[in-house]
Amino acid sequence: MRPLIIANWKMNPANSKEAFDIARAVMRGLEGVEADAVLCPPSVYVAQLLPSSNVFIGAQDASFKQEGAYTGEVSPQMLKNLGCSYVILGHSERKRLGETQDMVAKKIQAALDVMLIPVVCIGEDIQQEMKFVLKDIKEADVPKIVFVYEPEGAISTQANAKATSPEQLERALSSMRGMLLKKIGKEAVQNISILYGGSVSSKNIRAFMAKGVQGALVGASSLDAQEFVQLAKNAIPR
Ligand code: PGA
Repeated sequence: MRPLIIANWKMNPANSKEAFDIARAVMRGLEGVEADAVLCPPSVYVAQLLPSSNVFIGAQDASFKQEGAYTGEVSPQMLKNLGCSYVILGHSERKRLGETQDMVAKKIQAALDVMLIPVVCIGEDIQQEMKFVLKDIKEADVPKIVFVYEPEGAISTQANAKATSPEQLERALSSMRGMLLKKIGKEAVQNISILYGGSVSSKNIRAFMAKGVQGALVGASSLDAQEFVQLAKNAIPR
């Protein structure tokens, strides 16, 4: 499988010109490279970024409703209509602002309903979070989800952040796969994409890929186009 590297720009950059410049540099840098990337800018910049053949556009969140009286929300349908293919859901920074597991589960379904690919973040409490995500989802929909193991303490902006060790990652992956196996069976689990997120850089990506993840969710290192392109290249198996 080609590596999948997802850029989570968070609430950056400050203006649309900078957003455009980063995106253009990433697309040029990844031309012809055997990796897929997704740029997830703040939703106000989504409309101006067009995908290339291997760089897709995603959002950092979406509503669990498609339309109606929901002030401030952006619906999965709107994002889809703007050319988004992916949406990050259940990021720990959103959960810290009050998003519940129940809301995340509803958002996953709303994204699937319009064929947006949910990129679902799973934190430290793997069992409990996976249980919520898988609870009401149809078996056939599970392989449409990209799962990310992203423990909060590994995110670079946290005080004393520390990337997960490859050994810890191995344990987390086996626990996630175990839960998926119960839901969809052994054969289907092999087709599920699981990524790792938390302080990933061009320097450490290889060690994570070696543990069997399909790619990474990248925050800080995704705002520097050169670093992000190098990271995606280093994720390709040699
Ligand atoms: P980081 O962020 O790469 O800066 O640790 C990852 C994320 O929060 O998605």
